[in-house]
Amino acid sequence: MTMDAYIADLPKAELHLHIEGSLEPELMFELARRNRVAIPFDTVEAVRAAYDFSNLQDFLDIYYAGAEVLRTEQDFQDLALAYFRRAAADRVRHAEIFFDPQTHTDRGIPFQVVIEGLTSGMAAARTELDVSSQLILCFLRHLDEDAAQATLSAAEPWLDRIAGVGLDSSEVGHPPSKFQRVFDRAGAMGLKRVAHAGEEGPPAYVWEALDLLKIDRMDHGNRSMEDEALIQRLAASGMTLTVCPLSNLKLCVVDDLAKHPVPEMLRRGLHVTLNSDDPAYFGGYVNDNYRALAAAVGLTREQVTQLARNSFEGAFLSPGEKIARL
Ligand code: HPA
Ligand code: ZN
Repeated sequence: MTMDAYIADLPKAELHLHIEGSLEPELMFELARRNRVAIPFDTVEAVRAAYDFSNLQDFLDIYYAGAEVLRTEQDFQDLALAYFRRAAADRVRHAEIFFDPQTHTDRGIPFQVVIEGLTSGMAAARTELDVSSQLILCFLRHLDEDAAQATLSAAEPWLDRIAGVGLDSSEVGHPPSKFQRVFDRAGAMGLKRVAHAGEEGPPAYVWEALDLLKIDRMDHGNRSMEDEALIQRLAASGMTLTVCPLSNLKLCVVDDLAKHPVPEMLRRGLHVTLNSDDPAYFGGYVNDNYRALAAAVGLTREQVTQLARNSFEGAFLSPGEKIARL
């Protein structure tokens, strides 16, 4: 069996996926037509050609613009189900997906529309595709603490549908400490806590995510590798890192996939998982990430198996649920 076939056949969980980042240009055009929203592109090819980023902010500007076509419950359901179909084809058995409510509520789309649509898509994925899933509400870190607090309050009627909170968007200049109080409040509500840290931001932001936000899982975490004490802390605590190789390449977090830190992370005992982040924008779903990284750095089958095993271990599922998803 080739490595690619081996990867395709491995059951896996996806733990770092922004549902708005799974909006393929074809669906973007369909929703633009359906909702009579103007988009600044004439063709699907022109959209793809615009996906040439030199950093995180370049991408975020286009990503927030793309989300403009999402208006109705049906749109969010279609978006989610399209992702789950792709994920199921990659043998994803469980996904914990991020959504950015502020991107929608700030343009007048009610929180209820977003969550009803996404959870309808998740329910359909469970029955039609046998893919289970959970939702993680992300706060946009370029906005202020009060806006994050208001978003958490808006989510309160829906807490039975939300597994946790996360922190995404522009990292540098927006340290985790800015959101300590809202993360404390989310923890008191019984929500899990995750945060993007060390994608572009320094190791100090990773320390803050651990010590101030009290995260249960770390998104990206690449720059942790610059700090020996931090590596030891992450290894000793068994912290799961949701790493996204093709995202790192597209956003110039690494300049060459062959130099990606995953092999060193594994060697140092970190609980690394592989994920697609924003697959419609970064050129690949989860198996593409496994395949590209395995080819670039020469992963062994044992390492690939470990990465998939880590994805179930790091999931917010009970031990019994994990076994049932394999
Ligand atoms: N980093 C920060 N914010 C994001 C990302 C990311 O990779 N994707 C979507 N929002
Ligand atoms: Zn991300």
